Amino acid sequence: MWNQRFADAGDAFVFGEQPNHFLAAEAHRLPAAARVLSVADGEGRNSVWLATLGHRVHAVEFAPAALVKAAAFAGRRGVEVEFERADVLDWAWPEARYDAVVAIFIQFAMPAERPRLFERLRSAVKPGGLLLLHGYTPQQVEYGTGGPPDPSHMYTEPMLADAFADMEILSLRTYEQEIHEGTGHDGRSALIDLVARRR
Ligand SMILES: C[S@@+](CC[C@H](N)C(=O)[O-])C[C@H]1O[C@@H](n2cnc3c(N)ncnc32)[C@H](O)[C@@H]1O
Repeated sequence: MWNQRFADAGDAFVFGEQPNHFLAAEAHRLPAAARVLSVADGEGRNSVWLATLGHRVHAVEFAPAALVKAAAFAGRRGVEVEFERADVLDWAWPEARYDAVVAIFIQFAMPAERPRLFERLRSAVKPGGLLLLHGYTPQQVEYGTGGPPDPSHMYTEPMLADAFADMEILSLRTYEQEIHEGTGHDGRSALIDLVARRR
C-alpha cells in the first residue's frame, strides 16, 4: 500500500519536501554532526534536511519507491544520507548507536506492535542522546486530514509518558495545528510531540 502510494505520486512528494515542523523546531537540541536515525523516513524530507545541517543520517524505510525518491532528493540537495531498506518491525536494530532517533508519523504500528517498536526506538539512542517522536492523537480521526483512520494507532500523553518513563522527558505535549505536508497531511490536525533524553 505504501509503496503504491509513493509510486502513484510520480515526482510529487506525498508529504512534501519541507522537514516536519516539529523536527525543524527541535533540531537545535542535536549536537553538531550528530549521528541520527530517521525511522520510516519516507521520501527523505526529514533525513535530507538533517543532512543539510551537517548531521550524519541513517534513514530506514521499507517502501522502495520512497527510497528511490529520497536518494534522488539527497542528490539534488547535494548531501549524503545512508538509506537502508528495512521493515522496522523486523529489523536488527542497533543498540545505543545514535545521538538522536527521529520518528515522525510512524503510526503504521498496530497497538500490539507498539511496545516493542517503542523499546527499539529507546534502546537505539545512546545514553545522553535524544528521541524525537511526533504523531497524532486519537482526536485526529475526527479531522481525517492524515494518518490512519483507526484511533488505536494514535498516541496519548499518558501512553508516551508510560512507554518512555525511564527516559528524561524534556517535552511532551498535545496540541492542534493546521499543517500542510504535501497531500498526505493537510489541514487542521490533532498532534502530539515527545522529546526525551536517554539517561
Ligand atoms: C506517514 S509516512 C511518514 C514518512 C516520514 N516519516 C515523513 O515524516 O515524511 C509513514 C512511513 O512509514 C513507512 N513504513 C510503514 N511501515 C513500515 C515498516 N514496517 N518499516 C519501515 N517503514 C514503514 C511508509 O512506507 C511511510 O514512508
